[in-house]
Amino acid sequence: MPEADDTKGEKSFYVDIPQKSEPFFLKGAKAYDWGMQNRLARIFNAASGRTVMLAFDHGYFQGPTTGLERPDITILPLAPHADALMLTRGILRSVIPPALTRATVLRASGGPSILRELSDERIALDMEDALRLNACAVATQVFIGSAFETQSVINLTNLIDRGNRVGMPVLGVTAVGKEMVRDAKYIRLAVRICAELGAAFVKTYFVPDFETVTASCPVPIVIAGGKKLPELDALRMASAAIDQGAAGVDMGRNIFQSEAPLAMIRAVRAVVHENVRPEEAYEMFLEMKQRPA
Ligand code: 5RP
Repeated sequence: MPEADDTKGEKSFYVDIPQKSEPFFLKGAKAYDWGMQNRLARIFNAASGRTVMLAFDHGYFQGPTTGLERPDITILPLAPHADALMLTRGILRSVIPPALTRATVLRASGGPSILRELSDERIALDMEDALRLNACAVATQVFIGSAFETQSVINLTNLIDRGNRVGMPVLGVTAVGKEMVRDAKYIRLAVRICAELGAAFVKTYFVPDFETVTASCPVPIVIAGGKKLPELDALRMASAAIDQGAAGVDMGRNIFQSEAPLAMIRAVRAVVHENVRPEEAYEMFLEMKQRPA
């Protein structure tokens, strides 16, 4: 028998105060259901509206990438400094402690290795397993202009349909084939296709005229780091992307291949979340490199 609600005194219904109804902070995400928004809010920081994702899913097609030979040694110390980890379910289950409460974005495509045609991917993760692993999003790649363009786009739409059934956001990743020009025209095309087909956010490369890419994309964009650059150049790239409308970074090699990965991820955070200028962030990097806390 439940206890009676017989507390003495008046009940407070605050009849003259309208219920708070705050709009969801993320671009293009206002109409999503609660679960989808909650997952996105674990990836993107509500205060800055941005994210620092640490990408270390490279092994799914290129094996033990430099810097990722032992993710238990090289990645775990960095993980608490990321808003979200982009990784495969294999590394999640085998290396990442379940007590680490960072958001995770699971690589959901795969198939060919670097020895084959990379665009020939399939979906390689069941949505039920993504839910079991408490993922905050799943990611697949589109290869616009490549041999298996249509198949990769259908992978994306199938994943989005499955994600929509359970409130799982999908990250569309735009891969650029070797023979393709990496310019704003191409990136606008690839990014917009992902968004039109329902990706909740898109990962792409930073290119000149990036503001035209973010302006014509109705959902948040995070930039990939790409090949390892000198630290100052990587910080300048992150800063320019943010200034031109990116909602964060999904950076891998420029962090875990840095000469001081912990200092680098902290410097990247300062640029992304605190609008620290890249030169100042680089000074912070040098300082932290000398005296890792
Ligand atoms: C491939 C990927 C990667 O595996 C990875 O996330 C790329 O990160 P980075 O370029 O910063 O090393 O998404 O397209």
